[in-house]
Amino acid sequence: MNYRHAFHAGNPADVMKHAALARVLAYLGRKDAPYRVLDTHAGAGLYDLAGSSAQRTLEAEAGIERLLAAELPAPAAELLSPYLEAVRTLRVDGAQLYPGSPALALALSRSQDRFIFCELHPEERARLEKRLGDDPRAKIIQQDAYQALHAHLPPRERRGLVLVDPPFEEAGEFHRMVEGLEAAYRRFATGIFMLWYPIKDLKAVDSFCRQVAHLRLPKTLRVELDFAQVRSLNTLSGSGLIIVNPPFTLAEELRTMFTAIAPLMARDGKGRVRVSWLTGER
Ligand SMILES: C[S@@+](CC[C@H](N)C(=O)[O-])C[C@H]1O[C@@H](n2cnc3c(N)ncnc32)[C@H](O)[C@@H]1O
Repeated sequence: MNYRHAFHAGNPADVMKHAALARVLAYLGRKDAPYRVLDTHAGAGLYDLAGSSAQRTLEAEAGIERLLAAELPAPAAELLSPYLEAVRTLRVDGAQLYPGSPALALALSRSQDRFIFCELHPEERARLEKRLGDDPRAKIIQQDAYQALHAHLPPRERRGLVLVDPPFEEAGEFHRMVEGLEAAYRRFATGIFMLWYPIKDLKAVDSFCRQVAHLRLPKTLRVELDFAQVRSLNTLSGSGLIIVNPPFTLAEELRTMFTAIAPLMARDGKGRVRVSWLTGER
């Protein structure tokens, strides 16, 4: 396990995933009833973009920095505002902090909501504990993500989000995600599931999406944002999300946001957005 998210925090893939996460939480927050977030690959929770890891790659420059500096069309700006406000709030006194999924979820939720953050890497887990462990709503666990899908579902609240965001550093991750989704859905069929995947190997991505479609879950959305033409199997050319049981407005919201974001982040200045239903609504 060599992956450290600090090298990638705030990059275009993070922006895509975190913008979608913020919309799902906005939807869940419309009802007073509490919800739970299970974040199976939580990372270190909060990142310093001025720190040596982020500065070594400068990946945030093409991601969150470009988005913060952009003039967005009004509908996209409105949809993105909770996410961008949460980012801006961390930028006080010259700090250049960026919220990972745990910090963002905590910032956008209410006192009644609850969170389980799983992180298997001991040092990353310790960082997460140090940065966000004081929040009484959060439970931080060093546990394998796919075991967590069995251990913590269904949540007591019976409503909420499961975010699965692996580093894809080991072979078989796509397969583990499909199996994990199938098992998790069986335990928590009313939950919203959001699975992130990298677009590098298009054949692997298509095969993964076909396997997800084969699970025949009632409503499954596939959303992709391309930043570059695929040039090699080792280069990230785009970012994808599978969302099961998406809130009814989400597909259009994501299309609006990502259509505004794509040209900012794409290497060719255009980018490409795809929103399609693998199962259910069309
Ligand atoms: C892409 S990062 C997570 C980023 C985070 N979700 C965010 O949006 O800020 C993936 C994390 O998963 C952790 N990880 C890798 N394998 C894991 C496993 N089997 N179970 C739980 N965590 C794992 C890695 O140590 C890494 O911190």
